[in-house]
Amino acid sequence: MVSQPEVARGPVAPVASAPIASVVPVASVVPVAPIDPAGLAESLLPFGESRMLPRAAYVDPAIFSWEQKHFFDGGWSCVAFSAELANPGDQRAVPVGPGSVLLSRDDDGILRAFANTCRHRGHELLPCGGSAQRPSIVCPYHSWTFELDGGLKTAKGFKGTPGFDESQWGLISLPVTEWRGLIFVDGSGKATPMEPALAELDELVAPYEPERLVIAGRHSYDAAANWKILTENYHECYHCPMIHPELCRVSPPRSGENYQPSGPWVGGWMDLRAGMDTMSLDGSSLGVPLRGLDATGLRTVIYVNIFPNVLLSLHPDYVMTHLLTPLAADRTLIECTWAFAPEAVDTPGFDPGYAVEFWDITNRQDWGACESVQRGLTSEHAVPGPLSPDEDAVYQFVTQVARGYSGQPPWHKPATTQRAGAAAVS
Ligand code: FES
Ligand SMILES: [Fe+2]
Repeated sequence: MVSQPEVARGPVAPVASAPIASVVPVASVVPVAPIDPAGLAESLLPFGESRMLPRAAYVDPAIFSWEQKHFFDGGWSCVAFSAELANPGDQRAVPVGPGSVLLSRDDDGILRAFANTCRHRGHELLPCGGSAQRPSIVCPYHSWTFELDGGLKTAKGFKGTPGFDESQWGLISLPVTEWRGLIFVDGSGKATPMEPALAELDELVAPYEPERLVIAGRHSYDAAANWKILTENYHECYHCPMIHPELCRVSPPRSGENYQPSGPWVGGWMDLRAGMDTMSLDGSSLGVPLRGLDATGLRTVIYVNIFPNVLLSLHPDYVMTHLLTPLAADRTLIECTWAFAPEAVDTPGFDPGYAVEFWDITNRQDWGACESVQRGLTSEHAVPGPLSPDEDAVYQFVTQVARGYSGQPPWHKPATTQRAGAAAVS
């Protein structure tokens, strides 16, 4: 049994060897978002005095376009699971910002990412969301064919054409990395490496070994709410007594504490009630405890969000992941997965339903609330409200966004805006 590191509980201490504060995983020169700067200044006031983001952040298509370009296509964002591209020849086109990226796994197991645009006349190599399994990448328009490493293999009719140099017409490569079973792409091609910025978080997540787990449950939701409303909701349990009776039965809504990270993430942990083994309708687990957890890990659930679009919920016996893909200012695709230890999944009769059903109920309660917030914010009378003492993780996320809108690295936190506070998350 591996003990969780000290960093796993309470405020997170900086990791001395990782120069996290200097990491700027979005392009270093980012234009300011077209949003009221006075409103952003209010969002960036110290916790306890600040306000939520200006209403435009949730309803204005111009802000949505800016976010797509500068948050989702301007640095690292999560696009898929490693398990979805496990084998040589696996290919998949995934949305990244306003466009899409083609992922491919080569014969040596190396994962690559390319701009999803053919070098001939620009046709998509795969439709966004589509996948293929074959030894080369074939454009469906005029059949230009590329190696899995992106090099041009054949261009029908061009053989011997004077001046045509095949080596010049390979696919456009983009940075891609795998972290704990998740695939991240840097759509800008300019971001600094992601792993150093996640060093602190990696210490928290490592005992759960999500890269070893097997996805056994999956749900897609199409929520009529802005992606930030969903994330803000995830970061507080202030709402739990009102809308989550099932959750409150297994986890005290005011338990736990939020971390004070210096990287591109926000999160906290909550306790399980006495006698409850995990988050399920009756608190019992029909899986097996994850092998790397210590006694504390077996009594708590960790909730973290990696900016901008992935939520990781680490349970004693499973990991739930929400992958958010913004579709419009008022619409978000949420792909939710539940992953369990292989020794649990291999057990005859294993049924992930105990976890899936619990969170499907809770997810739908959350999306209902978030959609109502979205509708409420369409009112021109809506003005940014204050945050409760239990919403300090919401504050951390809101200030990330506000700093990003201001053209700053989202997770550079001036000392004046930091204040420790206890709160629950869900
Ligand atoms: S656009 Fe791809 S082969 Fe013509
Ligand atoms: Fe909730």
